[in-house]
Amino acid sequence: MLIVANWKAYIADLKKAQALLTQSKRLARATNTTIILAPPGPFLGALAAKRGNLVAFAAQDVSSITGGAHTGEVTALTYRESGAAYAIVGHSERRTAGDTGEMVAEKVAHALANELTPVLCVGEAVRDEQGRYLVSVREQITSALMPLTGKERRQVIIAYEPRWAIGQHAEHAITPTDLGEMILYIRKVLAELLPGRSATGAQVLYGGAVEAENVRALAQVAQVDGFLVGHASTDPGTFTALVRAAA
Ligand code: PGA
Repeated sequence: MLIVANWKAYIADLKKAQALLTQSKRLARATNTTIILAPPGPFLGALAAKRGNLVAFAAQDVSSITGGAHTGEVTALTYRESGAAYAIVGHSERRTAGDTGEMVAEKVAHALANELTPVLCVGEAVRDEQGRYLVSVREQITSALMPLTGKERRQVIIAYEPRWAIGQHAEHAITPTDLGEMILYIRKVLAELLPGRSATGAQVLYGGAVEAENVRALAQVAQVDGFLVGHASTDPGTFTALVRAAA
């Protein structure tokens, strides 16, 4: 079970970040869960320096540029040098802030070129009866993976995060049945993009309103490899309950 804790801008205080790190290490040891923490970028150095090998770190985003006169941008290389091994890319909050499919593809490529494993977020804004949401999810996966080599495509972790669920509580999350259908669909799309039989080995996560209350039922869905957790990962007690329930 893989759990990516996306702290977003919820954690602005280094003491809180350190308390969450300590608790996450305990949980990783006690539950055999792979925990990846995505703190605000400026905290990466301080947290990653102490990490031991029990948890890994992710950037919440990387820049679509690789250097030069771009005030405020943080490149994939800088994140790697600060201790990240993963990078969340294409999060819906970044797409809403202006990331296009093309920029997301560039970010995925820059992450890979700098030895960061991309966690590519895809998901529809709304569900329509005609099934257009399936086309939009397919398009988001295809546009990010198409420019890559077969070897690179195999390294990308997909996080299915429907926008309508993000930031909500458990009762508004996807149902296990709908998640099962979506995971199968995503694996079908991946089978067309990944060489040979490697689609079966691809990691597919779910995110959006994952809490201790619903994670167990969602974890029982076939072929879900883990979760991308936002608000429920930002308090030690809540996160402990969630990881224990998932494991
Ligand atoms: P949430 O966020 O768990 O707060 O819904 C998930 C995400 O946006 O990655």
